[in-house]
Amino acid sequence: MTRGIAQTLSEPKLRSLLVELGRAATRFRFEVAPNPCVGAAILSDGEVIARGFHEVWGEAHAEVHVFDEAERTGIPRERWDALVLTLEPCTSHGKTPPCIDRILESGISCVVVGALDPDPRHQGEGLRRLQAAGVEVVLLEDVTPLAKVAPHFQTWLDNERIRRPRPWTIAKWAQTRTGQLVPPQGVGGGRWISGPESLREVQILRGRVDAIVTGIGTVLADDPRFTVRPPGNLLKPPRRVVLDSRLRTPPTATLLKTPGEGEAGGPVDVLCIGGASSERHRALEVAGAHVHPFHVATDDGVNLRDVQTWLWDQGCRRVLLEAGPRLLTHYLKSGFVDQVRVYTGVVNGGQGPSMGEWLGKLKFHERIDREWGTDAVLEGFLREDRRRG
Ligand SMILES: NC(=O)c1ccc[n+]([C@@H]2O[C@H](COP(=O)([O-])OP(=O)(O)OC[C@H]3O[C@@H](n4cnc5c(N)ncnc54)[C@H](OP(=O)(O)O)[C@@H]3O)[C@@H](O)[C@H]2O)c1
Repeated sequence: MTRGIAQTLSEPKLRSLLVELGRAATRFRFEVAPNPCVGAAILSDGEVIARGFHEVWGEAHAEVHVFDEAERTGIPRERWDALVLTLEPCTSHGKTPPCIDRILESGISCVVVGALDPDPRHQGEGLRRLQAAGVEVVLLEDVTPLAKVAPHFQTWLDNERIRRPRPWTIAKWAQTRTGQLVPPQGVGGGRWISGPESLREVQILRGRVDAIVTGIGTVLADDPRFTVRPPGNLLKPPRRVVLDSRLRTPPTATLLKTPGEGEAGGPVDVLCIGGASSERHRALEVAGAHVHPFHVATDDGVNLRDVQTWLWDQGCRRVLLEAGPRLLTHYLKSGFVDQVRVYTGVVNGGQGPSMGEWLGKLKFHERIDREWGTDAVLEGFLREDRRRG
């Protein structure tokens, strides 16, 4: 017998549960962007027996977590009355299988949803498929509107962005108290500003993006690896992309060496401007890089719009920008940064330009300031209308 939702919880209770789930889901907003934040619960005999959230971009959606959690309670599936979701379930295959399949497979007889999928290409499809399979569907529209629960997702679905897609771009940098990206001479081996906890956190972030983008200035100054190391996920390391107009990347760069034991590195792409030395092009390819000449160049180097389009065409949806002040400010000026993570270490002074002025100019529509180890961390989504400096 179908135990309808009416017998388990009243509408006001469902509404307040949805609001509570929506609020809790936003805890993960910086981890899941550009995906929406989603919360889920399963009810049995009118009580919440499990909660689940979308916690990490590219990994399990809220539906998967909530079903796993409900299984762990030992309460048999026949006694699960309803699945409550802040957002209509997905029907398409992205980084993970469609949630609709998991819902149907669970045999749950009722699904309560607090908002429709805002993407016109999928809107209503999840609910139609549930109904077609005989599942009771309750839509409490706009109890958990995207504008409140995941405003960044609306940015992602912006018409202009759908027309000319580009990856979600997270700019991450470490700065001294004066906003400089290079420590004073003799401090941190000339490189390290943030503490060990932050360095570990960056490894986790690297394991959750499709590409790391940097500039030749950083490659020449630091000879970085841009690999993923524990506690980051080593299973699918991001591509490493160097913007290098004139192919100054040395073929002996550490980036091009086989990653050491216990670390993983994605393929290396060097993006130059057309007409760069064919000799250096060949030497880099022999060293293992993939060199891509770009037709359009500006005084500032490789055209960033073309870079963003190219990254999208390579399948990159979430990209981490780890560059020096020159490329970083050019990205910010161009309006291509969606999210920032800034570590301010306990270092006074420094060398080179300060990002302090930029930070003062940026406008956030969501922002948190937190402490992490010895560092202060600012994390936020940039406001669409105020990204450019
Ligand atoms: N603290 C941190 O988080 C952090 C992170 C990274 C680097 N750093 C430090 O930053 C310093 C290097 O700074 P940087 O500003 O020289 O390096 P960068 O921003 O990494 O690289 C700049 C170079 O990228 C090339 N480029 C290609 N296309 C570009 C475009 N569209 N816009 C801008 N640049 C483009 C340009 O050289 P071409 O014209 O030759 O192509 C430019 O000189 C190093 O000392 C490094 O240690 C610090």
